[in-house]
Amino acid sequence: AEVIIVKNESAAGELVARSIRALIVGKLDAVLGLATGSTPSPIYRALARSFMERPIDVSRVRGFALDEYVGMPAEHPQSYRAVITREVVEPLGLTPGNIHVPNGDLSTIQTAGLDYEHAIVEAGGVDVQILGIGRTGHLGFNEPGSSFASTTRVKTLTEATRADNARFFDSPADVPVQCITQGLGTILRARHLILLALGQTKADAIAAAVEGPITASQPGSAIQFHAHVTVIVDEAAASKLT
Ligand code: F6R
Repeated sequence: AEVIIVKNESAAGELVARSIRALIVGKLDAVLGLATGSTPSPIYRALARSFMERPIDVSRVRGFALDEYVGMPAEHPQSYRAVITREVVEPLGLTPGNIHVPNGDLSTIQTAGLDYEHAIVEAGGVDVQILGIGRTGHLGFNEPGSSFASTTRVKTLTEATRADNARFFDSPADVPVQCITQGLGTILRARHLILLALGQTKADAIAAAVEGPITASQPGSAIQFHAHVTVIVDEAAASKLT
């Protein structure tokens, strides 16, 4: 992987936003892989600013989110559908119908994973996948033990991840137990991976992903199978790289 150390989160956001803007200028119907959580926010903010200052046609841009909670109403403000709408679709002016999020409805959960895989293939695959990484090393919600060949499916969140995400909910007990997530195999089929990590809490996961042994107990190490990976980190997240 190419590792780029940046000064702070806004520098990280600007860097990724520039590359995504260039992608869209060259391919108006580019397919973006969208992460949620705190890490990608500076990217979405920088992109929104860039499109505001120098507008380009983004009406045909398509997007696929990495994951969604299972059994949470889509209107819930912390559903990833709602987060993607609020933090990405609206500020960037994307076309809502072009943006896909795995469907966590219980009534269709049996087929939702395969449906999502088909939708990605139908779109011609993901051009650039934005990734964050969990303290457990997860990419998407592929917790340790996930197969490198996995596709979109239901997973159970680890207690560590539920605790980390409790900050978005009124009470830790409100964090859903299950999610539907793109698999590591799905993620590895994107043509370019951009993994962003900020802060000391991500240092171990980044070291394991970038230069640790390839092992299912560190899902982030899956990036070592990919030929085009850009890892963008601040000094703190880079601190355990040798
Ligand atoms: C989000 C996702 C997760 C997060 C990871 C880091 O769609 O799939 O893998 O990227 O949990 O979360 P933050 O950025 O909030 O530290």
